[in-house]
Amino acid sequence: MDAPIITIRDLVNRFGTQVVHEDLSLDVRRGEILGVVGGSGTGKSVLMRSIIGLQQPAAGAIAIEGKQLSQLSDDEAVALRRRWGVLFQRGALFSTLTVAENIQAPLREHTEIDEPLLGEIAGYKLAMVGLPPSAAPKYPVELSGGMIKRAALARALALDPSLLFLDEPTAGLDPIAASAFDALIRELRELLGLTVFLITHDLDTLFAICDRVAVLADRKVVAVAPIPELLENPHPGSGNIFEGRAVGRPQHGSSRWKPAPVMCLSAALSWCWLQPCSASSSGWRASTQAPPRISTSCSMARSPD
Ligand SMILES: Nc1ncnc2c1ncn2[C@@H]1O[C@H](COP(=O)(O)OP(=O)(O)O)[C@@H](O)[C@H]1O
Ligand SMILES: [Mg+2]
Repeated sequence: MDAPIITIRDLVNRFGTQVVHEDLSLDVRRGEILGVVGGSGTGKSVLMRSIIGLQQPAAGAIAIEGKQLSQLSDDEAVALRRRWGVLFQRGALFSTLTVAENIQAPLREHTEIDEPLLGEIAGYKLAMVGLPPSAAPKYPVELSGGMIKRAALARALALDPSLLFLDEPTAGLDPIAASAFDALIRELRELLGLTVFLITHDLDTLFAICDRVAVLADRKVVAVAPIPELLENPHPGSGNIFEGRAVGRPQHGSSRWKPAPVMCLSAALSWCWLQPCSASSSGWRASTQAPPRISTSCSMARSPD
């Protein structure tokens, strides 16, 4: 098996007296979509910020492509930074720039590509994330939530990264836009050979696209495995991460879906889906199957949400 693309060992992060991570270790495998889950405030975003160099850890080692972040020269750090794209939890786009200018921003910072080519590349990236050319001159305020996420993804892909960091990419999207975004991520991974570090609390996303899932709890990664393995070997430290969340995005136009709390991930990732038995039944049944997916097709020419 290839060496991991990211290796984290014994990571410690603190803010004053608050210890967010303590001896946290994790490998991210090349080419995988790794889901990262954990309760609010368990340090998912801080972990991502540590990996991309925005958070200086108190201790521990992080290596990307075998290079220790703490030992990089400035030039090596810049070169490494060009290899990843990031979609942050908040502030996905610069509000004072158009979509095209947003996508071009990393290219202006890291390359000397001339103006006409910058325009062409922005158009290409827009198409890649399923946005029409007409989105290019628009400002973020003129876009829907799904379009903003796609535009932010296009910016994250501007430098043709091999690593993509996504922090809660489907948060705030309606279920159909969220499903389409999941499909887009999966297709881009196949198309571009990306490795994806994906923070999410969206169970549909976990089931739909993640190869493995890392569970953060007690300041550490307490489990990392494909979902079927997590279900079979629940870890006591996982807690009720998803308790009370609705499960199964609505079947578009269907009356079957009920926005009820259906997932009990009890004290240990023993996941239990409760779904309506049938359209005519008011009963519920438990299932360990992934929830039904909305049929979404997502292609390069896909129309925006
Ligand atoms: N820059 C900061 N200064 C102080 N505390 C912070 C900072 N960033 C994050 N924290 C704290 O660290 C903890 C983990 O934050 P975060 O990684 O954002 O959680 P989440 O798992 O929800 O993404 C939280 O308690 C948060 O308040
Ligand atoms: Mg966060």
